[in-house]
Amino acid sequence: MPRQDWIAFPGTPLRGEVAVPGDKSVSHRAVMIGALADGTTRIEGFLEGEDTRATAAIFERLGVRIEAPAPGLRVVHGVGVDGLQAPDGPLDCGNAGTAMRLLAGLLAGQRFDSVLVGDASLSRRPMRRVIEPLARMGARIEAEDGHAPLRIFGGRRLKGVDCTLEVASAQVKSALLLAGLYAQGESRVREPRPTRDYTERMLAAFGYPAAFIPGEAALLGGFRLQATDVQVPADFSSAAFLLVAATLVPGSELRLRRVGVNPRRTGLLHVLRAMGADIVEENPGEQGGEPVADLVVRHARLRGVAVPEEHVPDMIDEFPALFVAAACTEGTTVVRGAAELRVKESDRIATMAAGLRALGIEVEELPDGAVIHGGRLRGGAVDSHGDHRVAMAFAVAAQCAGGEVRIADVANVATSFPGFDALARGVGFGLREA
Ligand code: S3P
Repeated sequence: MPRQDWIAFPGTPLRGEVAVPGDKSVSHRAVMIGALADGTTRIEGFLEGEDTRATAAIFERLGVRIEAPAPGLRVVHGVGVDGLQAPDGPLDCGNAGTAMRLLAGLLAGQRFDSVLVGDASLSRRPMRRVIEPLARMGARIEAEDGHAPLRIFGGRRLKGVDCTLEVASAQVKSALLLAGLYAQGESRVREPRPTRDYTERMLAAFGYPAAFIPGEAALLGGFRLQATDVQVPADFSSAAFLLVAATLVPGSELRLRRVGVNPRRTGLLHVLRAMGADIVEENPGEQGGEPVADLVVRHARLRGVAVPEEHVPDMIDEFPALFVAAACTEGTTVVRGAAELRVKESDRIATMAAGLRALGIEVEELPDGAVIHGGRLRGGAVDSHGDHRVAMAFAVAAQCAGGEVRIADVANVATSFPGFDALARGVGFGLREA
């Protein structure tokens, strides 16, 4: 991928009404579960990001016909739970942790062997967290020191297990549930804190008898899935950058249409409101079984807070945006209980702390979080380390900086938010290619 940098700088007040792209988590799962269903699944609002396209390309390699009649639309011709075909080579997950971890579970239940590979960032991320519990179900997955490539051996008889996870991870939970479709008996997953429940909800929407409450999910293997249509809500994690930017820039007022507000995703709303943000949910409704609302955000003056640890899993992808809100705010913000940030697309505690320091903000790094002393940002140069959310967070930070911010290595923004730069410019961001 060619390297790309941005120059970001204060723009105008952010105003207008926009729809951010479809939810990444839901798009991945709609392709996966649609592929395993009997019948045809039409996915509307599919995220045209590199991560979710990687998942679709992998299922095509596994013998599933997927049509793309228009941008944001996919028609998945399901092959049934037992209908996937052996691929002719390694399956490339690119930058997508969700693809790799969920597929590890799903492929462990097949008759054939497969190999999952990823880019340099994904190849550094921990995979033992899925390999070990899947091994307890009878799966055999080989990895080098717990990292991709993952060599998954098929033709194994899986058995259901009752598993209590060590880390709160929707990806690990989902891997076990997808393996559980192929296991004898019941697979039950208990979480230290509740995480996003899209796999459970979607299996249920496809007619699979799955039982779930916050923090626990269970299913019996051996049932079939019935195709259904999926309407993907707009991704709250993409909306988050605009929520923070409009809060910080005086004179701003933005409406973000039909954003997914599943409570397992909206921890940032609680924290921003506790900091003093003015964000209102209007036109609440349901889209594809998920709660959605328009989010209307107006500029407000914020103050620092201690982020309650119980909100951490519900805003796990929003910390880069929150760090920026904290940096541009009076007072001190404390984040604890968020060690998972160190094993995301980059070590987000280290990459955000380094970038904010380069812009003149005092940040203390903690093993599981950070203490951010709000202040006045100056211009400077920061490195996103190829992390899409870090790149977008610094584009937001630059809107309240005293000068230009050069952001290195931003091409991966296309993994989750294709067209971010044009959309952001359209509402008033100062942002151009370097
Ligand atoms: C995701 C779960 C989270 C999140 C990721 C998407 C999912 O990861 O950070 O962006 O779709 O299940 P973890 O399970 O590692 O917390």
